[in-house]
Amino acid sequence: MQGASFPIDLNTILFGIHEEIHAQDDWGMPAQYIPQLACVDPAQFGMAIVDASGKCITVGDADVPFSIQSVSKVFALISTLGRIGDQLWKRVGREPSGASFDSMVLLESENGRPRNPFVNAGALVVTDALLSGREPKQALAEVLGLIRTLAEDDDIHIDASVARSEQTTGARNKALAHYLDSHDNLTEEPDKVLGTYFHQCAIEMTARQLAMAGRALAGLPGARGLMSKERIRRVNALMMTCGHYDGSGQFAFRVGLPGKSGVGGGILMVAPGQASIAVWSPGLDSYGNSKAGTDAAALLSKATGWSVF
Ligand code: DON
Repeated sequence: MQGASFPIDLNTILFGIHEEIHAQDDWGMPAQYIPQLACVDPAQFGMAIVDASGKCITVGDADVPFSIQSVSKVFALISTLGRIGDQLWKRVGREPSGASFDSMVLLESENGRPRNPFVNAGALVVTDALLSGREPKQALAEVLGLIRTLAEDDDIHIDASVARSEQTTGARNKALAHYLDSHDNLTEEPDKVLGTYFHQCAIEMTARQLAMAGRALAGLPGARGLMSKERIRRVNALMMTCGHYDGSGQFAFRVGLPGKSGVGGGILMVAPGQASIAVWSPGLDSYGNSKAGTDAAALLSKATGWSVF
């Protein structure tokens, strides 16, 4: 791929990325600890970009639904901030953890206050705050409703079989929830929080739908007014510093865009004022982030010059 050249022809760039990704032979392995995800064919790749004119350009498997997993944490965070605002920060930090997404190690030394809302422990606290006395159905309907509004698409659903699949194997999340509870950092029963969280992670979307849902975070014209500028800046800052867990520095170095990954192989990225980007490829790297997705993001950033740095 060539370096940044203007005007940018996104169709050509995406086509080139697709070729380059398919020319490699190591797709990585899909998430093994969630049985429903372990059997997904890793050799799949799709990418979608909504540009500043509102046009959506796609390549490859951009219309194949996948499990958004931790990408859902962005939307749960936006919903929860909408409900309780800055009170959330009494219970969750805003610092990168430098540890894996499901790590327990800092939680003990930091008295049950998770480092940030994107590590699993932090996301469980966010989900607990989203519940605040309501039934899981209501909290989930709120997150799903937000995503459908942002994406302007009602055909977005939860795959309950993926949620059940994680419920059978989610020992680490169960441990995290009970540990948070022991520090009085959950208001609801751990099992209720876990059930809600597993269903939230099991939301299915295509790369096209995810790119559409990211327009507000990218501050694109069609989606202006859906979120305050301050909230956009803050969520983007968290995505940049914490969105890829212990791979966040590496992602900033290679791609230079706020991004949020999920173990389903999806990544949502925003090029502020320029584009909302979603990429999906289910094979993961050692951090649990999409391998080909990250490679494609790096190629895109290089070709467009969209890095915020
Ligand atoms: O809680 C979990 O382990 C999964 N439901 C989500 C983790 C995840 O997506 C991490 N991201 N790369």
